[in-house]
Amino acid sequence: MPLLQTIRRMLEVEPTNTPFVAPQYWEMRHQKYEGSYKAIAPPSLSDEANARDWEFKESRLLDVIRRHAHKRDGDGLLDVGCGTGMLIQGYSDLGFDVVGVDFSPTAVRQARVRAPQARFFVSEVATLDLGRRFSVITAIEVLLHIVDEKKWLDTLASLARHLDPSGVLVIIDSLSHAHDEHATHCKPRSAERYDAELDALGLRVVERQQFTLPNEHVLKDLLVVARA
Ligand SMILES: C[S@@+](CC[C@H](N)C(=O)[O-])C[C@H]1O[C@@H](n2cnc3c(N)ncnc32)[C@H](O)[C@@H]1O
Repeated sequence: MPLLQTIRRMLEVEPTNTPFVAPQYWEMRHQKYEGSYKAIAPPSLSDEANARDWEFKESRLLDVIRRHAHKRDGDGLLDVGCGTGMLIQGYSDLGFDVVGVDFSPTAVRQARVRAPQARFFVSEVATLDLGRRFSVITAIEVLLHIVDEKKWLDTLASLARHLDPSGVLVIIDSLSHAHDEHATHCKPRSAERYDAELDALGLRVVERQQFTLPNEHVLKDLLVVARA
């Protein structure tokens, strides 16, 4: 099944004629599925299945952070599109001072309860300016959902702006090999496109992984990015 058709089916969102407004879509989704993985994961899967997928994804993620981050005490980790904060505790357990950002107030409210040790901001990532840099930035299944081309480029620039000179950016996404595929709520970009835009920002991919989650059968790409 083609990637976009699979993603649409998993998210149970079909294209409509209504213009897609990302912050509204996500806020409504977080309200509809409050307390469930379905807010951030395929609604067609059970919470148990989604929880297993998140565990699998988290173990890969923490492994690359442990291997790539040259951590000093009190180093900051910025999680953009943090959702309900499912991944925050794992980052805190590694000893990072964690900051989470999501534009859904409903998601951030739950994240604050789930991980009171971390700080959270309700914000669009593209225009974010926290006035500091982070040793690690994570963008986990977020960039795929930025369908507007300028906003996606502004988001990459924002991530570069917030990254320490020796920091690492970890992205999990579903990269497509076609350049112009477009769905209402998601837009995969190719590995080549990522390479070119990251290069323009003085960044380069230092590790790539591909994996399929135990339950959501969409191929995931994990990129570890550092300064060129
Ligand atoms: C698929 S969920 C992933 C949540 C989290 N990263 C995780 O893996 O548990 C995507 C999240 O990104 C947020 N998001 C999407 N685009 C965003 C943007 N441009 N700025 C801020 N948050 C965004 C959504 O509100 C949603 O909570």
